[in-house]
Amino acid sequence: MSASTYQNWIVERDSDEIVWLRLDVHDNSANVLTNEVFTELQYILTDLAKNIPVGVAITSNKPKGFIAGADVKEFTQIKNQQQALEIIRFGQSIMDQLDQLPCPTIAVINGFCMGGGLELSLACDYRIALDEPSTRFSLPEIRLGIHPGYGGTVRIFRYLSPLIAMDLMLTGRSLDSRQAKKSGLIDQTAPNRLLEHSARKILLNKPPKRKAPRFSKLLNSGLARPLIAILMRKQLAKKALPEHYPAPYALINHWSKHYGNEQKMLQHEAKSVAELSTTPTAKNLVRVFMLQNELKSLADDHPQQVKHVHIIGAGVMGGDIATWCVAQGLEITLQDLKNESLAKAKLRAYKYFKKRLKDRFLIKDAMDRFMLDAQGYGVRKADIIIEAIFENKKVKRELYASLEPKIKKDALLATNTSSIKIEELCDSISDPTRLVGLHFFNPVAKMPLIEIVNGTQTNPNVSQRAINFAKQIGKLPLPTKSSPGFLVNRILTPYMVEAGLLKEAGYSIMEIDLAATTFGMPIGPIELADTVGLDIGLHVAEILSTAYGFKIPSSFKTMVASGTLGKKSGQGFYAWKNGKKVTPKSKTSTNSDTMIQNRLVLRFINEAIACHHEQVVESKNLLDAGVIFGTGFAPFRGGPIHYVESMGTAALLETLDMLHKNYGDRFKADPGWHEFVT
Ligand code: NAI
Repeated sequence: MSASTYQNWIVERDSDEIVWLRLDVHDNSANVLTNEVFTELQYILTDLAKNIPVGVAITSNKPKGFIAGADVKEFTQIKNQQQALEIIRFGQSIMDQLDQLPCPTIAVINGFCMGGGLELSLACDYRIALDEPSTRFSLPEIRLGIHPGYGGTVRIFRYLSPLIAMDLMLTGRSLDSRQAKKSGLIDQTAPNRLLEHSARKILLNKPPKRKAPRFSKLLNSGLARPLIAILMRKQLAKKALPEHYPAPYALINHWSKHYGNEQKMLQHEAKSVAELSTTPTAKNLVRVFMLQNELKSLADDHPQQVKHVHIIGAGVMGGDIATWCVAQGLEITLQDLKNESLAKAKLRAYKYFKKRLKDRFLIKDAMDRFMLDAQGYGVRKADIIIEAIFENKKVKRELYASLEPKIKKDALLATNTSSIKIEELCDSISDPTRLVGLHFFNPVAKMPLIEIVNGTQTNPNVSQRAINFAKQIGKLPLPTKSSPGFLVNRILTPYMVEAGLLKEAGYSIMEIDLAATTFGMPIGPIELADTVGLDIGLHVAEILSTAYGFKIPSSFKTMVASGTLGKKSGQGFYAWKNGKKVTPKSKTSTNSDTMIQNRLVLRFINEAIACHHEQVVESKNLLDAGVIFGTGFAPFRGGPIHYVESMGTAALLETLDMLHKNYGDRFKADPGWHEFVT
């Protein structure tokens, strides 16, 4: 065997005359397709074309993962469309070079395979992948405001039906190895010990290449495409407006209008991505991606791993936190005063594992790690104790005092309180520095953020370990000050209260929600209030109204008093049937009202400015990240602070001033605006 090494590639020619290209991007834990990686590959492929081997296998030399995609950092440096076009054309030309090698080629996918990595594998003749749950395939470019640009939108149709191909590209969702094989995206799966052996066999035997299912021809025909495209646009419009998210619409047009000639389609793909990559949406979505990485990077590189979590309180939150921790591979003990709560929590966990894990051995393993513990035996051996009992200061304080003598010396003690200051909870224990807030959001499985709430007394080392734990269980940690409402509820509550006031002023719930979704919120504030639960929302609002002096709409109180609690009770502002909102039939116009939108958005933004001013979180970036991942704030706007900075303060302050005059002091500009006035 002969081998040569580049900065990022190891090239080996084995005794069968098969060349192995092993990617190992230097100074990076994951393989990403940088300009340097492409340049070296171009050189290697040019060389191979002169001395053609029996076959070429491309794989990763990293312990985990194949290729994570293009280098997003390089993406942020693009200055204009022309430069974007050059970068894309260069990448495309290398994929073409690989595609046109006269010998068989195979991608040997040993782990996650995303974006440009999947496009590279599509330029090979065959694809074989490691049969493990961590091997996942996706084209997530749409989440960065673009669509695949290295030939992915062209070659994918060779293997998949257009309906599956478009769905993968439009949603950015991922497939595991088995799903990928079933769909036609890959040829074969294999366990680790057989992966390279099987790849070699394919290269030597050259079986027929996979083809898209026969009916694809019909769906891809010139007659069918425009009709399917209309349906796709209609579906899409329910989730994203073209003025907010142009990329999925551009992708549908690309397929509908340019499918057919691969070369022409490649040219259009490059042009389309170049145009999209310089839009404010793409820039802001890349910002969101970077913010996500910033939150992840708050954790230590190699922290001590938590193995056992003890959770006290098996209600809505405790039960779901337990389920989530088990799904992340941990062992939990769950304690509650009521056996009924414990039984319900375990049943919910079972349903979740059944849906998510599917395999009965994996489900059994998960259920074995989910231990009910009414007596609280787990307290003594847990690495972390999470308290999630009723929101009652006195009961929580008594609980900590009883726990302290039992817990391990180095165990982390955390509370999931949503509204009580850590300083008011911690002095019932002899070492108050060890209490930290771990504020999960509801529903735990869906909400990516955890606020790490630091009391003034919390030991920084404890706080760091809480951050590490959040990252370990796949959540984004956001360190916040322990002020009322922390960050997320503090900003969301006045916005939801304003929605209630609008309703009381006679506007319809549909109009109010439409104004928010037109701005770019994923759901409107009224629907959000129903989803969170009006009782929970009212409780938080009462605490915040005392702290910050605002008025709560009386309808909130009457509804809660009459048991009208929202989604969970089947009736809130909306009616709910089988967990789905029933849209009222009303004659409301479908145009969003600017005044409603201003009232909602500016209360939100004004509160965000106040949080920045009061340093509830450490930086503007952390604030934007927390608000996007905690509230869903219009990601394509890049966060509330970024929105203020990109809009300029003059117009926003003018509107705020007008609202202040018309609606009173709740619209008084926070002193923090001064920092943004240039
Ligand atoms: P819940 O009312 O659904 O459950 C509380 C559970 O704690 C009950 O099963 C109860 O039997 C148990 N419990 C009470 N005292 C206990 C004790 N001394 N020892 C053992 N178990 C005890 O409450 P939920 O909604 O799960 O809230 C729990 C905590 O999470 C609260 O602090 C709340 O503020 C916070 N939170 C709630 C959110 C929500 O949306 N529900 C969101 C984020 C935080």
